[in-house]
Amino acid sequence: MSATSLRIDGKHIEAEEGMTLVEAARLAGIKIPTLCQHEGLEPYGGCRVCMVEIEKRGWSKLVAACVYTVEDDLVVRTRSEKIDRIRKTVLELLLAHAPDSPQLLSLAREYGADKDRFEAQASFCVHCGLCVRYCAEIKKANAVGFLDRGRRREIAFMPGIAAAECASCMECFALCPTSALQAAYVWVSAMVPSLDHAEL
Ligand code: SF4
Ligand code: FES
Repeated sequence: MSATSLRIDGKHIEAEEGMTLVEAARLAGIKIPTLCQHEGLEPYGGCRVCMVEIEKRGWSKLVAACVYTVEDDLVVRTRSEKIDRIRKTVLELLLAHAPDSPQLLSLAREYGADKDRFEAQASFCVHCGLCVRYCAEIKKANAVGFLDRGRRREIAFMPGIAAAECASCMECFALCPTSALQAAYVWVSAMVPSLDHAEL
């Protein structure tokens, strides 16, 4: 695999072709915050916590570092007033769904995000897709998926598949950055029809 030469936060990095900016930054000891990224899963780019600024031949733009791959001569900035402001707003929007998420609160402290800035949302799910993608890509089970689109998008366990697959697995619960317990509740609800809460 050929090497790609770029600069991240002023550091010269030789990265392998196809690496994401998150992976390349890690080579140089630079940590870009992530939420929906998982090393064992396909890049997704859903949460926008990892936004960075890239510059090449006079143009610049913001990209999600967990999906954007390295390019020769790219200049990447992972922190700046503008990037920190964007991350702060992204975190505040996510916290409106999950104000008690330890992972989000830790990032909120770093970026000065206010968990009460936006109106509290009924759904705890931040649509990171970790549970859905893990179940599909690693377990090949598709026991949990997204329903609906846009603001009405929610996760739901597929009762038939979940009844057969989930009791011996439950590996996705620990991945949920907002509330593994609530994910478990969704699952239990799907298993016990009388609870009638197969989706949240
Ligand atoms: S339930 Fe949790 S892991 Fe699944 S998409 Fe929502 S926030 Fe992500
Ligand atoms: S970690 Fe990059 S978009 Fe979520």
